[in-house]
Amino acid sequence: MDLDIISKLQLPKIDLPQIEWPRFDISSFRSSTVPRLKIGDSVARLPIIQGGMGVGISLSGLASAVANEGGIGVIAANSIGIIDPDEGTSPKDANVIALRREIRKARNKTSGIIGVNIMVAVNDFNELLRVVIEEKADMVFLGAGLPIKGIPIEDLRSAGVKIVPIVSSARAARLIFKSWVKRYQDIPDGVVVEGPKAGGHLGFKETQIDDPDFALERVLPKVVAELKTYEKEFGRTIPVIAAGGIYTGADIYDFFKLGARGVQMGTRFVGTHECDAHIKFKEAYIACKEDDIEIIKSPVGMPGRAIVNQFLDDVPSEEKAGLKCKWKCLKSCDIKTAPYCLSLALDNARKGILEKGFAFAGSNAYRVNEIISVKELMLELKKEYQCSEEKGADNLSFEYERALERLAALKKEYLTTLNNGLSGLKKAYAREFEKHSVTFQEEYSKISNKIVALKAEYSRALDRASILKEELAALFEQYAAFNMVCEDA
Ligand SMILES: Cc1cc2nc3c(=O)[nH]c(=O)nc-3n(C[C@H](O)[C@H](O)[C@H](O)COP(=O)(O)O)c2cc1C
Repeated sequence: MDLDIISKLQLPKIDLPQIEWPRFDISSFRSSTVPRLKIGDSVARLPIIQGGMGVGISLSGLASAVANEGGIGVIAANSIGIIDPDEGTSPKDANVIALRREIRKARNKTSGIIGVNIMVAVNDFNELLRVVIEEKADMVFLGAGLPIKGIPIEDLRSAGVKIVPIVSSARAARLIFKSWVKRYQDIPDGVVVEGPKAGGHLGFKETQIDDPDFALERVLPKVVAELKTYEKEFGRTIPVIAAGGIYTGADIYDFFKLGARGVQMGTRFVGTHECDAHIKFKEAYIACKEDDIEIIKSPVGMPGRAIVNQFLDDVPSEEKAGLKCKWKCLKSCDIKTAPYCLSLALDNARKGILEKGFAFAGSNAYRVNEIISVKELMLELKKEYQCSEEKGADNLSFEYERALERLAALKKEYLTTLNNGLSGLKKAYAREFEKHSVTFQEEYSKISNKIVALKAEYSRALDRASILKEELAALFEQYAAFNMVCEDA
């Protein structure tokens, strides 16, 4: 055996694929834009919707200011007639007149995007929606209930009104979209997902409000995933808008990373000069501490978040009988058992009479410490967003560089292992071969010696046998009668 074959063994050539990894120099990266928000054919320069805030907190003043800064301004329609009831008109008529007036006022102040917020649970839902259609508002936000039945889709579409339901779960979004497809062969144009940190009435049970499973960060991606099939089926993008507890531009950036295409903010807009509420309402925000913001049980049977005050503290001892109501705003409000009239209390708060009312507020209201203009607020949010985007790019680039370093280290380790391992193997193979060949040679010569000895012995035996055969033949001739059997050797 030729031991040389060992030295002729070739190491197999196993190369890792050569991939060009681009390098990114982000040191000069500056975020210069904030994503736009497209809902149907309306495109907002900033992806910020000012949430509708009733009663009378967001009217034409705030909505037009937001729209002028590139966001979407929203007028809250519920009980809007209470702010300035026309003599002799019924509450329903007063609401219709006031909503029409506010939409028109807003239109006169801006060419930006104006929406209307209507609670599905109000008794005059259809009448308010009719005004939205007649006045051709850009969009309508439908909260506090599932907008499933009796939606005048054709009228809304021909007036160019985009429809955006407000939900608190992926299940609610699914129910709405499924029944819209069945009933109207159409789908809404966007969805606001309002989490448990929002102000005003909340779409959660009290036990769910602090449960991490119901946090906006958890619910939002589920809604985004839920709508994917409808986006495909209808070939449309359905923006999902995050709401509840969003306070800074960094928060906006974080929710965009989770799949949101826009945000709806309420609390921050209360702290603006343009907010339509009385200065005392805004001052209640500036004065409140974190502990003053609590969940209350609203007379309409839903939990709500508000700044607690003497009025709310006194509620349990209030006389429950004797309330007379001409407004009958909400289907779920039973004036016989309600401790106070919600619309009147909210209207009082709007007017700054907080002894006879209270302020709804988001969980971040205690962070409002000054009143600024909508312009300043939008600029601040935009800057913070861009700053987060730059930080995000920095983090990404850092992670990428680390990943490349790791890749290079792995490649090195791989090649070293491969080469060392194989040449080690080659050496081990040669060693084993030599060891075994010695044993083999010994065995071989032992066996060949034995064979030689046997061969000699065999010839000797053969010679002897020939002699014996000769002798026997002679005997046979001598004794011919002897019957001899000759054996072959
Ligand atoms: C004073 C106040 C009144 C509100 N009124 C309404 C309302 O009438 N209809 C509605 O759908 N949402 C209402 N909201 C909720 C807001 O539109 C918005 O979605 C929510 O406040 C977002 O959370 P944030 O305040 O933490 O930004 C109200 C919120 C506040 C603070």
